[in-house]
Amino acid sequence: MSSSTIPITESELKLLQTLIYQECGMFFDDRRTHFLMDRLQRRLRLCQLASFYDYYRLLTSREGRQELSALLEHLTVNETSFFRNRPQLDLFQKTVLEEMLHRKQARRDWNLRIWSAGCSTGQEPFTLAMMVADALAYYYLRNPLPFEMPSPKPLIPPPWKVDILASDINYSVLRAGQEGIYTEHHMEAVDYTYRLRYFDRVGEGRYAIKPAVKELVHFDFHNLKTEFLPQRNDFIFCRNVMIYFDEAEQKRLIHKFWRCLNPEGYLFVGHAESLFGLTDKFKMMHLNNGTAYSRLED
Ligand SMILES: C[S@@+](CC[C@H](N)C(=O)[O-])C[C@H]1O[C@@H](n2cnc3c(N)ncnc32)[C@H](O)[C@@H]1O
Repeated sequence: MSSSTIPITESELKLLQTLIYQECGMFFDDRRTHFLMDRLQRRLRLCQLASFYDYYRLLTSREGRQELSALLEHLTVNETSFFRNRPQLDLFQKTVLEEMLHRKQARRDWNLRIWSAGCSTGQEPFTLAMMVADALAYYYLRNPLPFEMPSPKPLIPPPWKVDILASDINYSVLRAGQEGIYTEHHMEAVDYTYRLRYFDRVGEGRYAIKPAVKELVHFDFHNLKTEFLPQRNDFIFCRNVMIYFDEAEQKRLIHKFWRCLNPEGYLFVGHAESLFGLTDKFKMMHLNNGTAYSRLED
């Protein structure tokens, strides 16, 4: 197969950009056109088509659904890491979660629901699972409940229940998250005590998330562009995802997150992202370099 570059006209590029935007919200501005063109060239060659117009016709046909998801997978940036943005995670664990547990206990609501939207290969939801498990153990020590503790002691003290939904548009990263096996390189930010308590060594330089942590996290496909997204969350983490959307799409997504959060819920966005100027439905909270947004009532 030839690896020569197939020419693309301006209108073909526009058609493809619009299709991608409509499908998943990703917007390729001038700075990212080069990346888009490179990925499109590769897919076109793989499909053995002669022109980008043919490729566009394939993508918009019923037979092309699979190729469309393959293309979207190749356009997503999946960079992630354990304990990414530590100041924000500290704000979550030490302040916001603690307050939430008190409020929930007062009304005897023992369910905690967290959504990692755009979870990539799972480091974010598993980081949250480990941090919540630690926070709940510490909280339980100070606020014991008259429930019998089963033996062996479970990771989450009863009657508390933790459910972490990890979603993405990319099936390959979801599969990797479900597997939950990481290399030494991935483990860079995971300190010794976390490694010891929450990972099993499964080979030279390979670490598997322990089953009890894995049980807290459910991986599922969700495209953030769609209207119907998972409801009744106490916390939504959507970090380093909106950065690839344009302003109109960011506004729509923030509004959807508002609807997907419980009253008094919180939204966490990436270090380089902000809700400033995009909504009046959230209130910013900033502490020790960490930022969170609390949901305001209508
Ligand atoms: C850079 S990663 C961020 C991972 C993690 N949240 C973090 O901050 O480390 C962005 C993820 O968002 C996903 N994504 C992009 N567009 C999406 C969409 N429309 N719906 C769901 N996930 C999307 C990508 O597949 C990718 O895995």
